Amino acid sequence: MKTIMVDLAATPSARSYPIHIGSGILGQTELILSHMPQKRVAIVTNTTVAPLYLERLRSALEDQGAASVPIILPDGEEHKNWQTLNLIFDSLLTKRCERGTPVIALGGGVVGDLAGFAAATYLRGVPFIQFPTTLLAQVDSSVGGKTGINHPLGKNMIGAFYQPRVVVADSTTLETLPERELRAGIAEVIKYGLIRDPAFLVWIERNMIKLLARDPEVLIEAIHRSCMNKAEVVEADEHESGMRALLNLGHTFGHAIENALGYGTWLHGEAVAAGTVLAAELSRRMDMITQTDVERIRNIYVQAGLPVAAPDLGPEKYLHLMGLDKKVAGGKMRFVLLHRIGEAAVHSDVPAGILTEMLQECTANA
Ligand code: NAD
Ligand code: GLY
Repeated sequence: MKTIMVDLAATPSARSYPIHIGSGILGQTELILSHMPQKRVAIVTNTTVAPLYLERLRSALEDQGAASVPIILPDGEEHKNWQTLNLIFDSLLTKRCERGTPVIALGGGVVGDLAGFAAATYLRGVPFIQFPTTLLAQVDSSVGGKTGINHPLGKNMIGAFYQPRVVVADSTTLETLPERELRAGIAEVIKYGLIRDPAFLVWIERNMIKLLARDPEVLIEAIHRSCMNKAEVVEADEHESGMRALLNLGHTFGHAIENALGYGTWLHGEAVAAGTVLAAELSRRMDMITQTDVERIRNIYVQAGLPVAAPDLGPEKYLHLMGLDKKVAGGKMRFVLLHRIGEAAVHSDVPAGILTEMLQECTANA
């Protein structure tokens, strides 16, 4: 097992927390016991993950004398909304969960974001623990404390920064993950290489076949290196007042795609892949990277079996939806652009003509 600390203060503070990464650690409940104020927890999961992993976690907790309240949500991005959030509150209240009752998220990013937002707001905040079971959640969404839900007008528009007490990523849970979901998770792994870790990008290119084949050692290395990158960014800028925005490479376009096509039609990682190709095209048109760089980026996603052609929504629709992005400041759209492979920055100075032309050319040819 490997452990990374997310240090949220110069010296270890109560909010600093460990990320444990390993094979078969779902049942090692001793990893979470010290983070539980009481021996009773609520486990938020969904109809797909519950039959696979809920009993294993519950019985391991029982072995430690801890009772659990299961809360089983409908599965899917289209359920990441107020109604589903309310189902969590209904259960927490009905089962009389208290301020000391931790909320555990057992599932992918949708369960994690919903459960985290519930933990942040139930009784004004209860302890939160993450057991991510998708690659995307293990490399990204379970770390860093972004929680929330979608709104019909925009993705992840309502939420809170609320850090977990501990993250336990068991790589063997990825054995049951559908192929398409595994590929979607790889999109967020590639992101770290593109924005800040070029050596990792080379490693991903070299190990893509093993990653897709779920080679256990390669999966653990990908999760470990991704979490190290994410932890460093979150430690430097927990509330996204600066460099954390770089983690949104491709997301401004990607969120527009997810919203326009209907939440759940394209997976988040698929939209991020096609969105990153648009961000790369924009970076090239701003004379930051070369055509060779764009082709390299496109090829990595092709290797991963991810979409590289963004849907042709028309520039107006893209511009409208991107105008609702969380990065918009003073009414100006802001884009994460690549200065070179391995280095990114946020730009609010993209001329409207260049953006519109890129959207016309790069989505029309899709
Ligand atoms: P997801 O949570 O919808 O999970 C994907 C699918 O896999 C679901 O059907 C789920 O039930 C199923 N599943 C989960 N674990 C499984 C397993 N081990 N075996 C079999 N099936 C399993 O999707 P996701 O890709 O994990 O997360 C996407 C969400 O995460 C989006 O809503 C996105 O906005 C959010 N996100 C949040 C952050 C953050 O920092 N909070 C970062 C990135 C993405
Ligand atoms: N996934 C983007 C972030 O955590 O900031």
